[in-house]
Amino acid sequence: MPSKKAATKKSNKPKKNAAIDTLLTENRLFKPAAAFTKQANAKKEIYARAKKNPVKFWESMASELVWKKKWSKGLKWKAPDAEWFVGGKLNVTESCLDRHIKEGRKNKAALIWEGEPGDKRTLTYFDLYRQVNKFANVLKKLGVKKGDRVALYLPMIPELMIACLACARIGAVHSVVFGGFSPESLRDRINDLKAKILVTADGGYRRGQIIPLKHDADVAIAECPSIEHVVIVKRGDFLLRIKEGRDHWYHRLMQEADNYCAPTYMDSEDLLFILYTSGTTGKPKGIMHSCGGYLTGVYATTKLVFDLKEDDLFWCTADIGWVTGHSYLVYGPTACGATQVMFEGAPDWPDKDRLWQIVEDYGVNIFYTAPTAIRAFMKWGESWPGQHDLTSLRLLGTVGEPINPEAWIWYHKVIGGKKCPIVDTWWQTETGNILITPLPGITATKPGSATHTFPGVEAKILDDDGNEVKEGGGYLALTKPWPAMLKGIWGDRKRFIDAYWSKWPGIYFPGDGAKIDKGKYFWILGRVDDVINTAGHRLSTMEVESALVEHPSVVEAAVVGIPHDLKGEALAAFVTLGGGKEFNDKTISILKDFVARKIGAIAKPDRIINAPELPKTRSGKIMRRLLRDIAIGKLLGDTTTLADPDVLSKIKKEYEED
Ligand code: WT7
Repeated sequence: MPSKKAATKKSNKPKKNAAIDTLLTENRLFKPAAAFTKQANAKKEIYARAKKNPVKFWESMASELVWKKKWSKGLKWKAPDAEWFVGGKLNVTESCLDRHIKEGRKNKAALIWEGEPGDKRTLTYFDLYRQVNKFANVLKKLGVKKGDRVALYLPMIPELMIACLACARIGAVHSVVFGGFSPESLRDRINDLKAKILVTADGGYRRGQIIPLKHDADVAIAECPSIEHVVIVKRGDFLLRIKEGRDHWYHRLMQEADNYCAPTYMDSEDLLFILYTSGTTGKPKGIMHSCGGYLTGVYATTKLVFDLKEDDLFWCTADIGWVTGHSYLVYGPTACGATQVMFEGAPDWPDKDRLWQIVEDYGVNIFYTAPTAIRAFMKWGESWPGQHDLTSLRLLGTVGEPINPEAWIWYHKVIGGKKCPIVDTWWQTETGNILITPLPGITATKPGSATHTFPGVEAKILDDDGNEVKEGGGYLALTKPWPAMLKGIWGDRKRFIDAYWSKWPGIYFPGDGAKIDKGKYFWILGRVDDVINTAGHRLSTMEVESALVEHPSVVEAAVVGIPHDLKGEALAAFVTLGGGKEFNDKTISILKDFVARKIGAIAKPDRIINAPELPKTRSGKIMRRLLRDIAIGKLLGDTTTLADPDVLSKIKKEYEED
């Protein structure tokens, strides 16, 4: 049992820092239990070994994977371009599937899947291998070639994982679009990718409702000239229209497909997938990941951070539409030959104990979720997990946003029964794998801190000039390349450099503020750009603003993040209506729904506030900082740069009346 050293909590005066939120000082320390340490995959020596020669460390991890041809050089680095495992050739599916078939895991469960309505499927490694090979042949027959982009817009069903791996089998680049995104979001991504094929489903389930995926896909691809074929997985008995010649049923194509598809060997640096994430300028960024480096990173972290053992049942609750699902569902656990749970539904449907029912039913050992979910569990109360036997759990993880110490302690006590180490893992879509995290069995944890860098990774806190902050707050910086680092932004080299590599020369800037304490623990404080982290996902304020101004009544909009009990941050939108339009409750609900339709429910603002005018600097920049102050009820900050200081009191009045 982790020993609690000092259970005191001191609160220091919040530090003044305009760009960065402040946290209380948290002094509780949870040391690893000796029994856990004894059996842990990671041994203490790993840190020193990796520090001494990080490239060699990563090479040792890479050599645990299947390569067709070994690399000649571990790393070629000329910032911002890293080439990992230079000259190496591989097909990632050989590490994720073929080798398990040969090495005694043929009949081991790869996926234990449960659908929202309660339907269940188990796929062994052989099943997965067979389906992936067949679907790879289907894609080939539809004309997909190495390097072609395939868009996937599916619910959380095994076919989503099968489709990802089938693309990887033939060297096609998959791009998963979260099933909760709107047709317009799907359209924009497909057009940016120039995808040839879209794989979707007739529909999906969400809290008892049907999500008409194929219908939405039809709306999207009406404006996607690159799409040649649509493959439809039959999930239910949903109504849909079939366009002859373009649309095909997945199960029909699979019936005719050959069993085996020879893997297409890829250069280590060839593209594996593109996944879109929000940036500050509105348009989502297509983050590119490679084969060799990415697989090495997710394999190493899955094995060492989650301490996976042959008999473990691993469950990452993320949707494959996000990077967490790519790295810790599709690629990391399969590269480890693990058995995992995949779940289609929501945590509160039909009741608020759905996840705990699943943990109990299958005996889940390792559970990885987001702080926003943990806060919801806390709010629903202990009685829901209390009805279930959670004693199978032996390790817990979190990802997506800073976890507040209260939620951490609750997770530790109520879900972990005080016996499970918690790994608070910091990373991003761009980083590919976990970079700052405890290693269970080694690291003493502090609630709210992601602790230290993963072996082979180097992070520092820097100030604007690139000076290192040894203790205190600043910007998080990654000062050495790592294998799973992004290869670029699809079609936008300049933005890649501007967004990540221009703050300091040769150093990666993730956009997060952080602080480091005396004990060298990292505390992530959140985004420093115009990006809101809501429910563990990044949304660009610009993107939501662009959606709002598309509505005919809105002439201008500014969106800010406001603290939210469950979501961490929620969206507040200040809107200026045009043409004497009246602002009332109906406007609010129309605009909320409009954003949900344009982008997806995840972007729906919690508040819409009437702003007859927006506060601007003399150069015309909207002063979001001031709006945020109004939205959170803080006294107004420095307004001396405002073009018209009166604007603020007007908005403030509107806000207070709202
Ligand atoms: C941003 C990345 C990584 C998969 C999920 C989100 C925030 C992520 C943590 C953590 C504090 C965290 C950061 C980061 N974040 N994990 N453990 N503690 N903040 O992926 O959408 O690419 O967002 O999420 O702000 O930059 P993403």
